This record gives sequence, C-alpha cells and structure tokens, in this order.
Amino acid sequence: MYGMMFDFLRQYAAKSGQAPESGGEKLYFPVTCYPDREFFEQAQALAADRGLSLSDLLADLGRFVAPRLLDYIREIAERSSSSFEVLERAEEQIAHMVRDDCPEARPPLVNSYRESADLLVMHYQSDRMLCPLARGIILGLGDAFGESLNIDESQCIQQGARDCVFRIRR
Ligand code: HEM
Repeated sequence: MYGMMFDFLRQYAAKSGQAPESGGEKLYFPVTCYPDREFFEQAQALAADRGLSLSDLLADLGRFVAPRLLDYIREIAERSSSSFEVLERAEEQIAHMVRDDCPEARPPLVNSYRESADLLVMHYQSDRMLCPLARGIILGLGDAFGESLNIDESQCIQQGARDCVFRIRR
C-alpha cells in the first residue's frame, strides 16, 4: 500500500499523542509501496490501544483522511461544490496518483453513478477489504462540504460479495 496511507495513520495517531506501536521511526514516502501487513499491524495496534474494533478505528481514520485526500487533489476539490462531484471523480484521481512503477499498489476500484440528484451509488472493490475505511472517507468528504450523508451498504465484500455497494444519500 502507498506510504501516503501510513503517513495518514501516523498523523491520526499523533493527533491524540499516540504513535502507532509498530512502524517506529520508519520513513514512509507517499508514493512508494510498502507491505500491507505493516499497515494492518499498525492499525490493529492503535485500535487495541484505544479499545476500538479495527472497523471502528478504520472508519474514524477514513473521516480524518478525507480532507487530506482533498489536499492531494486541490484543483479538483476547489472546482467541486459537493462531495458527490468529488466521489464521481475518485476513480480517475486514484488512478492518476498511482504510478506504473509501483505494481504492488493494487489501488481500490471505486466506481460510482447517480441514481437521482440526491442518491449516489458507489462500488468499492479491493482485496484489502478496507470498506470501513472507504465508508469513513465518504462521510469525511461529506463533512468537508458541510453535508450530512447517509450511507446504506447494500452488499459487503467482508460478507462474501464481489464488491461493496454504498448507497449514499444527501
Ligand atoms: C477523492 C480522491 C481520492 C484520492 C486522490 C485517493 C487516493 C488513494 C490512493 C493513492 C490510495 C493508495 C492506493 C494503494 O496504495 O494501493 C488510496 C487508497 C484507498 N482509498 Fe482512496 N482516494 C480518493 C478517494 C477515495 C474514496 C472516495 C474512497 C471511498 C470509497 C476511497 C477509498 C480508499 C481505500 C479504502 C483505500 C485503501 C486501500 C484499499 O482499500 O485497497 N478513496 N486512495
């Protein structure tokens, strides 16, 4: 996984004065790949420290991460007036950031379409099965635009589905 995610995790841990247990002083460069295992170990250790389930920790992390992702795509973010506009362009933005020389990146697929003006359907697929993180990112993008989004997950990869389907209402 990209170092960027490790960096977000570290910033998130530092917010309340805690550093992730593992990882120590290791440097993570944003667009370099590091083993997924290290990310899961660090997230798990932090969740244990805080007395949270891994899912709850990842969802909270996602909310924290969303405005930072917007910083990475500042031009697009500034031209967008709602979270839906950003969500609709997420796939191309992720693809844009992930470099050809990092084949281990295996970025998630996040495709979306509008069912109506106020209902966006987003599919998330990744063998990392980080749907709680995805859900948190979606909610955090809503926060960034002052919207209160409501997510109904109609199928979940962690329960054997091919992908997660988030039905997002605003
Ligand atoms: C809006 C602009 C976004 C950008 C620029 C962005 C960028 C990235 C990048 C570069 C990675 C690392 C990929 C890797 O290491 O393989 C990543 C991971 C991830 N992104 Fe995003 N992302 C965006 C939006 C979203 C949205 C809307 C979701 C929610 C569905 C999402 C969910 C995730 C998850 C769950 C991961 C963890 C890796 C995985 O699940 O395989 N991202 N993102």
